[in-house]
Amino acid sequence: MVVVPRNLNIAALEAEYSQKTPREILKFALETFKNIAISFSGAEDVVLIDLASKITNHFRVFTLDTGRLHPETYQFLEQVRKHYGIKLEVMFPDAAEVQALVEAKGLFSFYEDGHKECCAIRKVKPLRRKLSTLDAWITGQRKDQSPSTRNHIPVIEVDSAFSTEDHQLIKFNPLANWSSAQVWEYIRALNVPYNKLHERGFISIGCEPCTRPVLPNQHEREGRWWWEESAVKECGLHAGNLQK
Ligand code: ADX
Ligand code: SF4
Repeated sequence: MVVVPRNLNIAALEAEYSQKTPREILKFALETFKNIAISFSGAEDVVLIDLASKITNHFRVFTLDTGRLHPETYQFLEQVRKHYGIKLEVMFPDAAEVQALVEAKGLFSFYEDGHKECCAIRKVKPLRRKLSTLDAWITGQRKDQSPSTRNHIPVIEVDSAFSTEDHQLIKFNPLANWSSAQVWEYIRALNVPYNKLHERGFISIGCEPCTRPVLPNQHEREGRWWWEESAVKECGLHAGNLQK
């Protein structure tokens, strides 16, 4: 049976919180759920960590180390760990699965047959493992990151992709209604550390072989998996976006 933690009415909460600030949403999330963590990609979603650090000393952060991140991202993850004095819960892919994929198809199979298989092994399965231990998670997704897939993301939702029959998972997207400009205003105004790749034209940052800088006026999502169909760029972490 699906159990809603504390019998929360998610639809009502979404209506109530959709106009509130990221800080208010994050505060509600961290105060309501004991077993909750921020999912940090090593990009501008560092804003979530900064906001959380001003709400409480006890919040959890996890990151998915795909093994294919930029050196700058690894350095930034370490910088953030030290700067905020947090423990970073790092999730790794299953070694045997990575080995089997690489032996069968090499290290760059995604350029030939798409990113889904590699993302499933290096990102989605480790995420599923982490989420199976949590009641709720917090992401840095925003509507403006992808007009085709993220335009309708709510600030609070039941995670339709990772909930199971007997484990309902709640997903918070506190930055959903913020624009990229607002995020960067926050970073600059409060001297929040940021990934050095942003100084080199990268806006959206994922794995090194699958991310590139964008040109002026190109949408940030065009720098991700650029060799694939441009409309639907989701790797599976937020598969629920594709069901809406
Ligand atoms: S992705 O699905 O295309 O890879 P994106 O890079 O836009 O996601 O990031 C959106 C949010 O997904 C991030 O703010 C973060 O919460 C989560 N996320 C993405 N990549 C990771 C990662 N490697 N580790 C942890 N969380 C991640
Ligand atoms: Fe693999 Fe690229 Fe997906 Fe990273 S983004 S897991 S390298 S396909």
